[in-house]
Amino acid sequence: MNNLLVEKTKNVDWEFLTDDTRYDTHDFHRYSSKFIPQIARNLIEIYSKKGELVLDVFVGSGTTCVEAELLGRNSIGNDLNPLAYLITKVKTTSIKDEVLDTDVANILSDIRNKVAENREFENPSQTLFAHKAKKIKADAPSFPNIERWFQPQVLRELSIIKDAINNIKSVELKQFFVCAFSATLRGVSNAHSGYGNLMINKNKRLVKDTLESFERQILTMVEGMKSFNKHVEKVSSKIYCSDSRDLSFVKNNSVDLIVTHPPYISAVPYAEYQKLSLNWLKECFSDVFNDNCKEYLNPRILDKEIIGGQRGNKNVVSRFMESMKLIFQEMYRVLKDQRYCCIVIGHPTVQGKIIELSGEFLQMANEVGFKHFYTVTRGSHRTTMGKMKEEYILIFQKS
Ligand SMILES: C[S@@+](CC[C@H](N)C(=O)[O-])C[C@H]1O[C@@H](n2cnc3c(N)ncnc32)[C@H](O)[C@@H]1O
Repeated sequence: MNNLLVEKTKNVDWEFLTDDTRYDTHDFHRYSSKFIPQIARNLIEIYSKKGELVLDVFVGSGTTCVEAELLGRNSIGNDLNPLAYLITKVKTTSIKDEVLDTDVANILSDIRNKVAENREFENPSQTLFAHKAKKIKADAPSFPNIERWFQPQVLRELSIIKDAINNIKSVELKQFFVCAFSATLRGVSNAHSGYGNLMINKNKRLVKDTLESFERQILTMVEGMKSFNKHVEKVSSKIYCSDSRDLSFVKNNSVDLIVTHPPYISAVPYAEYQKLSLNWLKECFSDVFNDNCKEYLNPRILDKEIIGGQRGNKNVVSRFMESMKLIFQEMYRVLKDQRYCCIVIGHPTVQGKIIELSGEFLQMANEVGFKHFYTVTRGSHRTTMGKMKEEYILIFQKS
């Protein structure tokens, strides 16, 4: 056993109760059950060196890859969820300050003008400009129940913004704007803001600030990106949208460290929670995804494929365990000998029963050839899901 690594791991206070978790690009988009950047940061610092390759097979909103970039490590991130792919891609792709100050500002100003003209047309003021204002043509998408989720004036402005985004030529800038668009959706929708899951709020106020919410989001992302640019090192992040049960795009014995955070079985139904974004992405922006990803833009298909996604299914736990076994085999195959695999987990409650994932994973890891190296227990995990009080970081070594 490498005592120095154990000592370094023990010396960290893994609670990070007062740390800022929203710096640089970390706060670009809400994502259910993110882990805090400090967890990825400390694991990467302790268990890898600059220039090495870090892999996250459940990359979610990209926390591991962002931290890898900030710490000068190359990274690969994979997730089956197209929204996760988009967020991670945008958070790890630096856009230069000059471009943020010119191109991004110009696109935003174009959007602002179009929405202003439309507002003037629909609610003319007594100014001269009112007579000149033209109706802006913009078709809304037509996914099921869209009118229940968005008020008419919101849908109108979102459609204008959507069309303007679709005129952006640069793929990177378009992804940046699509990410901001997706991040804005929930706040301007009729969804209840007090819950993680998606429920209609029957008492929702009249939403008048669709453009303003989108603008705020873009400006927050511009500031985050500028800060990221100051800290990021010259390394590469490759982001994939694929099923981690088959990591054939990663070579055998090529990865120096794995840091990952599997889903909490069915405790977080990603497709269900994210269906507003997934529907808009599918209907309006599918060209920013590759073919593999496009297939999963449908919340129902995604829910079936994502491991642990189907809440009502009786076999959800056994299906999850079978999938995790395949993923453990893949993680073992791609990791270099003697290197480490760190897995962050909680003990979720599924269909009324607590699932002791740490024990299950220790056994699974052992079966595929990993040696248990160390376990960190985080006691006061700040989750909104009160049922999972403790979180564990299981650290394995490939022997
Ligand atoms: C707990 S989240 C990871 C959150 C991430 N650590 C972050 O900070 O945002 C688990 C992720 O696993 C993904 N996932 C579930 N099944 C998958 C599969 N078969 N292949 C790849 N990703 C999968 C989900 O889409 C989800 O994004």
